[in-house]
Amino acid sequence: MKHYDYLIIGSGIAGLSFALKASRHGTVCIMTKAQRDETNTKYAQGGIAGVFNTGDSYEKHINDTIIAGDGLCNREIVNLVVKEGPVRIKELVRWGASFDRNRNGEFNLAKEGGHSDKRILHFQDSTGAEIERALLAQIFKKKNITLLENYFALELVTQHHFGKKITKASQGIECFGVYAFEVNTAKVEFFSAGNVILASGGVGQVYANTTNPLIATGDGIAMAYRAKAKVENMEFYQFHPTALFHPGISPSFLITEALRGAGAVLKNHQQKEFMYSYHAQGSLAPRDIVARAMDSEMKKSGKSFLYLDARKVSPVELKKHFPNVYNHCKHAGYDMRKDLVPVVPAAHYCCGGVKTDEWGKTSIRKLYACGECASTGLHGANRLASNSLLEALVFSNRILMHCLEFKKSNSQRNPNFSPKDIPRWDASRTTNPEELILILQVKKEIQEMMSSYVGIVRSDVRLERAKKRLAMFFEETEALYKKTTIGVDLCETRNLISAGYLIIKSAMLRKESRGLHYNTDYPFKKESAEGTVF
Ligand code: FAD
Ligand code: SIN
Repeated sequence: MKHYDYLIIGSGIAGLSFALKASRHGTVCIMTKAQRDETNTKYAQGGIAGVFNTGDSYEKHINDTIIAGDGLCNREIVNLVVKEGPVRIKELVRWGASFDRNRNGEFNLAKEGGHSDKRILHFQDSTGAEIERALLAQIFKKKNITLLENYFALELVTQHHFGKKITKASQGIECFGVYAFEVNTAKVEFFSAGNVILASGGVGQVYANTTNPLIATGDGIAMAYRAKAKVENMEFYQFHPTALFHPGISPSFLITEALRGAGAVLKNHQQKEFMYSYHAQGSLAPRDIVARAMDSEMKKSGKSFLYLDARKVSPVELKKHFPNVYNHCKHAGYDMRKDLVPVVPAAHYCCGGVKTDEWGKTSIRKLYACGECASTGLHGANRLASNSLLEALVFSNRILMHCLEFKKSNSQRNPNFSPKDIPRWDASRTTNPEELILILQVKKEIQEMMSSYVGIVRSDVRLERAKKRLAMFFEETEALYKKTTIGVDLCETRNLISAGYLIIKSAMLRKESRGLHYNTDYPFKKESAEGTVF
C-alpha cells in the first residue's frame, strides 16, 4: 500500500496547478489514466478570462458571468473567482506559460461570446497546450511529486469499504484514498491519502458529437456519486456552437469562439446572418442562446450544419492568432480566407459536477474536487466562455489553503479505521472479457441515445425514453462488471452510464427552461430556481 499526503486524480490544469503548490507541503501523487498531457486542458483554444484591460472591471466580468449563468450562479463564488483570477494568472505566467502580447508588452486580449470587454488571454489558438506544457515542465522539477501515467482511479474508499452502511444521509463520510488499477496489468491497488483531490475533468464522451477527447468520461463525478458525495446541476451541459462539421471524425474539431470575437459570423444556407433575430449580441451571444438558435435553424432547413464566415477576419490575424484552426480547416478542404466553413454545435463542457463549497470541499471529508468535475457555483446554468481554466486555477489555490488550515486534523488518522484494514480488491470471481464488442457497442448506443434525447432541446417524452434505455444499459453493464476482469472500456462505460443518469434525472426534475436546459414542455423560466442536487 502506498501513502501520499495529497493524491490527485487527473493531470490537467486543475490537478497540475494544485500539485505544484502542494509539493511544498508534503508528498504528492498525480494519477492519470492516460498519457500525462491527454486532457481537456491540452485542447483549450480560446484562452483564459481575466480583468487586465484598461476600461474593463471586476464588476463587468462578474456581471457577464452572472448574465450567462441565467440566475443560478453563486454570487459569492463569482466574486471571488473574478477577483482572485488575475493573481493566479500571473502565477501561471511565472511558472512559464506564455500568452500573446502586443508591442507594448501588454497582454493581447481577445473577446468571446457573452463578454462585454476584451479579457481573454491566449497563446495563439493553442492556449491549453501551452498551459499544459508549462505546468508539466514545472512538475518535472519537483522531487516529491510522483506522476503515474496509465493508472485508472476506480473507486473512492470510504467507511463503506470497512463494511459500514453508507447512505447520502450518513454523517461524517470520510475518504481514505482510492482503488486504482494499472492499465497495462489490470492489477488493482489501494492508494492511501491524507487528502484526495478529484481533478478528473468532464464528461463530453457521453454524447456522440463532442469536442472532448476520449478521456472525458465523467469518472470522477461517477466515483463521487457512488461514494455518496453530493453532485449538482448536471442538466446544464454546454454545447459549443462551432465545431467543424466533419462526419466520421471524432472528437469534433473545435473552431474557437475567439474567431467570432475577431469578426467571423454564423450564416445559414442562404448565406444570411441569422443570429441577430435571436439576440442583440448576434454571433457573440452567450453560448446557450447561439447553440439553441443553430439547432432551430438546422431543424427549419433540414440540414445537419450551418456556416461560419471568417472571410472578414484579416489574413494577418488568421495567421497570427488562429494558425491551428486555419491549418486544420485548410486540411479538411476549407480555406477560411475564401470559403465558408461548415459548423455544428458539439457537446463541450459539463457545468455541473461534484458539489463543492468556496474551498473546493465536497460533502465527503478529505475529498476535494477541482476543475471541470466540480460544481463550485461559478457557472450556474451556463458557463461564460474561458471561465473554466480560470476557475480551476483559483480553486486549486483555495483547496491547498484549506488543506493547510486543516492539516493537523486531516493528517490525523481516523481511530476507527486503519488503512491496513482496507480489503484487497476481490477479483477472484472474474474472467477476462471475451466480448469487448459488447461494451463498445453499449458505449456507442449511450452516446447516440444521449444526443438524440438529452441534447440541446429536450422534452418529457424524450427524457422518459432516455431513462428507460439507460436503465437497460445499466443492467447489462453491471452484469458484465460483476463477472469480468477490470478494464478501461468497461469502467468508462459504467461511469458514462452514471453521468448519463445524473444528466437525465436532473433534467427531469427541472420543470422549466433555463440556461443550457431547454424543455419544450416547459419553455419558460420560473421566477426563482435552485440547483438540482443528488
Ligand atoms: P482535464 O484537463 O480534462 O484533465 C482531466 C484529467 O483527469 C486527465 O488527466 C484524465 O486522464 C484524468 N482522469 C480522468 N478520469 C480518470 C481516472 N478514472 N483515473 C485517473 N485519471 C483520470 N476552457 C476555457 O476556459 N478556455 C478555453 O479556451 C477552452 N477551450 C476548450 C477547448 C476544447 C476543445 C475543450 C474540450 C475544452 C475547452 N475548455 C476551455 C474547457 C477546459 O479546457 C476544461 O474545462 C479544463 O481544461 C478542464 O481541466 P481539468 O483539469 O478539470 O480536467
Ligand atoms: C473556445 O475557444 O471557443 C472555447 C472557449 C471555452 O470553452 O471556454
